[in-house]
Order: sequence, then structure tokens, then C-alpha cells
Amino acid sequence: MRKIIISAVAKNGVIGLVSARKSDRKNNGELPWHISEEFRHFKQTTLGSPIIMGRKSFDALGKPLPKRENIVISRNNGLVYPFNDIKIFNSLNKAFEYCKEKNYDKIFVIGGGQIFAQAINEVDEMIISKLDFDAEGEVYFPTFDENEWKIIKSDKRDQFEIFWYKRK
Ligand SMILES: NC(=O)c1ccc[n+]([C@@H]2O[C@H](COP(=O)([O-])OP(=O)(O)OC[C@H]3O[C@@H](n4cnc5c(N)ncnc54)[C@H](OP(=O)(O)O)[C@@H]3O)[C@@H](O)[C@H]2O)c1
Repeated sequence: MRKIIISAVAKNGVIGLVSARKSDRKNNGELPWHISEEFRHFKQTTLGSPIIMGRKSFDALGKPLPKRENIVISRNNGLVYPFNDIKIFNSLNKAFEYCKEKNYDKIFVIGGGQIFAQAINEVDEMIISKLDFDAEGEVYFPTFDENEWKIIKSDKRDQFEIFWYKRK
């Protein structure tokens, strides 16, 4: 089973915003940019595969993404959502084990910062859209040693470039 991180990262490493006010639902966890082509790439790449995300990222989405098994990681064992089609695990490893049992050939870790920081040591591949600009935000992609990874492929698009990384 191939474990793959997929992320969009601004030039300054920012991947997201944390709302200044927790009660401000509208601003809670929004991405600091909107690039339709990048969303399309994310959708096309992940369709049909499970997507694993931290509870905060799921809350930012607000609902499961269609045509993909949505898996949420939370330490809160009492967490419930009004959706039938999501799985909740209290560790990343339990989510990986579940996907292995279900014989998925590939799974995507889709964020956010906390989950990337833990998953980066576990995954075999990364698909990173490097944005051409800096973004304002407080959530960062973890720093990693480029020497431990090789770039298999890259693709320049308008406002971003996609890099496919494989662990050496
Ligand atoms: N640009 C991108 O590619 C991208 C992708 C996804 C998300 N984002 C952005 O990233 C931001 C969210 O990232 P974040 O770092 O704040 O949060 P996050 O990683 O999405 O979620 C953090 C939550 O995950 C759970 N968690 C973390 N480690 C765990 C562990 N070891 N065991 C069990 N549960 C664990 C905890 O949930 P509980 O508190 O419920 O215990 C924790 O509060 C948002 O702004 C979002 O828009 C960006």
C-alpha cells in the first residue's frame, strides 16, 4: 500500500490559517488562497482513494469529500459527526492499518500541519504543489531534508508547480 502526502504549500511554507477567534466559523481553517486548477489536480489525484486528515482539517472542510473514503484522526474518542460515510481513528497508525486491511493500493494523507508533521516520516511519496507566492497563515508544512527524497516528475502550471517526490 502506497502512502502518499498531498499538499499545496506557499513559497514561505504556509499551508493554512488558524482562526483568531474560535467562534468565527467562517474563517476557521480556511485556505489562504483559491486556485481552481490546484483543487482540480487534488480532486483528480485523490478520487477513488481514501483520504486521511486531522480533525481540524475535516472541520475546515465541513463535510466529507465525495467519492473518497474520508478518514479523520482525533484524540477525542467521543467524536461524532452527522455523516455516515466517515471513519474516525485516534491515531494515524490505526488509520493506516484499517486501509491495509481494506486492501487499498494507495492512500492519501491530506493534512493539515499536525498530521503532515507525523506522517512525513511514514509516507513513501509526496505530491506537493509549490505555489509561486507567499501566503499569510500560521500553519506550516513540516521542513524536510530534500536529500532523502528524489523528484520523479514535475509539472508547471499557472501560479504553482507540482512535484512528485519518492523517498530514496
Ligand atoms: N495547504 C494544504 O495542503 C492543506 C491541507 C489540509 C489542511 N490545510 C490547512 O491546515 C490547517 C489545519 O492544520 P492543523 O495542523 O491546525 O490541524 P490538523 O492537522 O488538520 O488537525 C489536528 C488535529 O488532529 C488530531 N490529531 C493530531 N495528531 C494526532 C494524534 N497523534 N493522534 C490522534 N489525533 C491527532 C487532533 O484532533 P483533536 O483535537 O480532535 O484531538 C488535532 O487537534 C487548516 O488551516 C487547513 O485549511 C492545508
